[in-house]
Amino acid sequence: SARNFSTSKQKPQNNLHNFFPPVKNNYKVAVCGASGGIGQPLSLLLKINPLVTELSLYDIVHTPGVAADLSHIETIAKVKGYNGPENLVTALRNADVIIIPAGVPRKPGMTRDDLFNTNAGIVRDLAKAAAEAAPKALIGIITNPVNSAVPIACEVLKKAGKLDPKRVFGISTLDIVRANTFVAEAKGLNPKDVNVPVIGGHSGVTIIPLISRATPSVSFPADQLKALTTRIQEAGTEVVKAKAGAGSATLSMAYAGARFANSLLRALNGEANVIEPAYVISDVTEAPYFSTPLVLGKNGIEKNLGLGTLNDFEQELLKAAIPELKKNIEAGVKFANQ
Ligand code: NAI
Repeated sequence: SARNFSTSKQKPQNNLHNFFPPVKNNYKVAVCGASGGIGQPLSLLLKINPLVTELSLYDIVHTPGVAADLSHIETIAKVKGYNGPENLVTALRNADVIIIPAGVPRKPGMTRDDLFNTNAGIVRDLAKAAAEAAPKALIGIITNPVNSAVPIACEVLKKAGKLDPKRVFGISTLDIVRANTFVAEAKGLNPKDVNVPVIGGHSGVTIIPLISRATPSVSFPADQLKALTTRIQEAGTEVVKAKAGAGSATLSMAYAGARFANSLLRALNGEANVIEPAYVISDVTEAPYFSTPLVLGKNGIEKNLGLGTLNDFEQELLKAAIPELKKNIEAGVKFANQ
C-alpha cells in the first residue's frame, strides 16, 4: 500500500514480543529551530518515523505553518507548533528526545567559529529551557559551532543541577554519512554497506575519519587517502560554496539528524547494540569533549567504545585536532559562565 514506505510485504508480528515487559514505543520528540533549512526536512523525516507519537516543533518564526503542513501526513505522530520564547518550555515539556538545529548557518568565507556570537546565546537559552521542562531528555545538538555548542549546553545544565553527561550529544553524524558516501564512490560500493567511523569534533581538522577501520576494509595510496580525508573534513564548505550565500548543508543534515534521532529512539525502545559516534563529554583524550563510537541505551550513553586502534596517519590527525578542540571547548565553557 502507499502507506507502507519500507516494504511491500507486511512484517509478521513478532510473537516473542509478548513475553517481554511492555516497552514504551511512543516518544515525544521536540525540534528547536523547526522552521529552518534543516528543521523542516528533519521534522518531515521525524513525522514518518513510527517510533514518534508526538512531534513538538519550536521556532521563533513560522511554526504554525510548518506544523499545519506536516500534520496532514498520514502517520501517527501528533504534530504541534510552538512559536516564540513564551511557548518554549511547553514545547519541550517531558520530551524524550530534543533535537536542536536552531541558529544561523555559514555563508561563503565563514568558518563555523564565526557563528559563535549569534548561536552561543541561542543554545544557552534552549538548554536552560530543557533543564526546566525535560531534564531526562536525550539532547542532540546540530547548531554550529558544535565543538563549542555542546560545552555551552552542558555548562548550562550543570548550573541548573540537571546535567547528565550521558544524555547530551553533539550530532556529528553528517561527517560519517559523508565519509560513507565518498568511500563508497571511490571504491564502487553500495553506500549502505559502508561504515566509516569518524571521531573528534565537527569542524575542519577536528574531524578525524578512521578510514583504516572502515567496513568493508578499504585501502588507498597515501596521496588519495590524504585527499579523501581533506574532502571529508571540508565537505561542509563544498556545500556552502555551491549554495553561494543561500546557506549550508540542510537536506543531508536533515537526513543525518533523523538517522541520529532514530538511533536514540531505537535505543530508548530497548534495541540492543545501537552504536553511533557523537560528540560528548569524554575522558578518552585530553579534550574534555570528543566524539567516539557510543553504545546507546535507555539512559543515553551505555558505553563509550573509545578511540580503538589508530594508524600513524590517524594519530597525526588526532594530534592536530586536540589543541583546536580544547580551544573551542574553552570558548564554550567561558561563554556559559560569563
Ligand atoms: P536556518 O537559518 O535555515 O534555520 C535556523 C532556524 O533557527 C530558523 O528557522 C530560525 O528562525 C531558528 N532560530 C533562530 N533563533 C532561534 C531560537 N532562539 N530558538 C529557536 N529557533 C531559532 O539554518 P540551518 O541551515 O537550518 O542551520 C541551522 C544550524 O545547523 C546552523 O548553526 C548550522 O551551522 C548548523 N549545521 C550543523 C551541521 C552539523 O553537522 N552539525 C550541518 C549543517 C548545519
